[in-house]
Amino acid sequence: VGAAGAAGLVVGGAGAAIGVSATEPEQDAAKSVTTIGSTEVAFRPARARHQAGITTPLQATGHLVAFDLAPGAGRKEAAALLRRWSRTAEELMAGRAPAADTGVALDAGPSSLTVTFGFGHSFFGRTGLTARRPVQLDPLPDFSADALDPKRSNGDLWVQIGADDALVAFHALRALQKDAADSARLRWQMNGFNRTPGATARPMTARNLMGQLDGTNNPKPSDKDFDERIFVGRDAGQEWMRGGSYAVVRRIRMLLDDWEKRSRHEQERVIGRRKDDGAPLTGGSETTPMRLDATGPDGLPVIPSNAHARIAAPESNQGAAMLRRPFSFHDGYREDGAPDAGLLFVCWQADPLRAFTQVQRKLDRGDALSPFLRHEASGLFAVPPAAEPGGYVGRPLLE
Ligand code: HEM
Repeated sequence: VGAAGAAGLVVGGAGAAIGVSATEPEQDAAKSVTTIGSTEVAFRPARARHQAGITTPLQATGHLVAFDLAPGAGRKEAAALLRRWSRTAEELMAGRAPAADTGVALDAGPSSLTVTFGFGHSFFGRTGLTARRPVQLDPLPDFSADALDPKRSNGDLWVQIGADDALVAFHALRALQKDAADSARLRWQMNGFNRTPGATARPMTARNLMGQLDGTNNPKPSDKDFDERIFVGRDAGQEWMRGGSYAVVRRIRMLLDDWEKRSRHEQERVIGRRKDDGAPLTGGSETTPMRLDATGPDGLPVIPSNAHARIAAPESNQGAAMLRRPFSFHDGYREDGAPDAGLLFVCWQADPLRAFTQVQRKLDRGDALSPFLRHEASGLFAVPPAAEPGGYVGRPLLE
């Protein structure tokens, strides 16, 4: 992996098109304020206890992978693995090559790589640590619309890899798999993507494969209750999780053939927001609050009573909020000819029961979006705080 700054892609300021620099490299290099390749995310975020990859801006490429500990591997092997993984993640995120490197990411900078580690419910039984398993990891309830594949769900260990370059992300995945060696085996892998930074004229909320701006009303780090809603506090039970977060992961396939047949008007009523600029149907711009009580001349709510954004909003859920940080996926076509595409929905919260579960229970009763979705895989993971200097992720639990 090349040193930070050695990457070739030059972006002419936030949002300029990528690749146009090839014809006039000097001129564009002079204009450039950043390069995609040289952007580095700290393995231990400054002024925060949590791991990278939670509040980090969405990256262009992601791999979500779960591992199961190998037969015979227990707490000691898990501790050694997390030590190896943390070291490798820190090296790669800083743009340095690990020992005996494959060379896949040679020439590229760190490219905003993040690697985030979590523990599933089954991890604690395997390592003799059930007494320290947080209640927040209790299995999610069944939802009526679930069509879950157990082989692609859950797992002892979860790793989220994100990067703005596909080779950098693949390289990290292979390095971590190599570290797993005989102590853990891959259980499932999902590959996702987001828009490439620089593809839009200015930084914008991401779009999903239905074409909607997705993430508009996410909690913001500047909100005064952000930390309390997203990160585990002092009184949450398990001290080793303080400053960490819980990730809910759902592979949600979109029935795009059905969706794309609907008019724009119908599509907008499904969400309760306009498609082009994300503004609520009650008017204003993307950042204008929804007026859930507004009625039209017909006396009916302007934002329909079953609109996804109405049903999911904190106002409809006793304040429940989660940080949604997804990747889109496209795994080709299914046997029935439909695209195997949708959202690798990842959401972060201090308490999954009060956030994801509360909201999904309501959506599952029949919001307007549900008929266009299939939940096909599910996972819930405890994502501990970042490693202390000289330590590794999960050390306060494992040692
Ligand atoms: C809002 C799409 C699944 C929770 C939204 C918005 C869109 C959207 C377009 C409005 C813009 C925004 O605020 O981000 C989708 C799609 C999904 C999906 C395409 C599946 C493929 C879910 C699930 C949950 C969820 C499973 C949680 C159980 C929320 C929340 C909001 C939201 C909390 C913000 C509501 C507000 O405060 O205004 N979603 N969503 N979504 N969605 Fe979803």
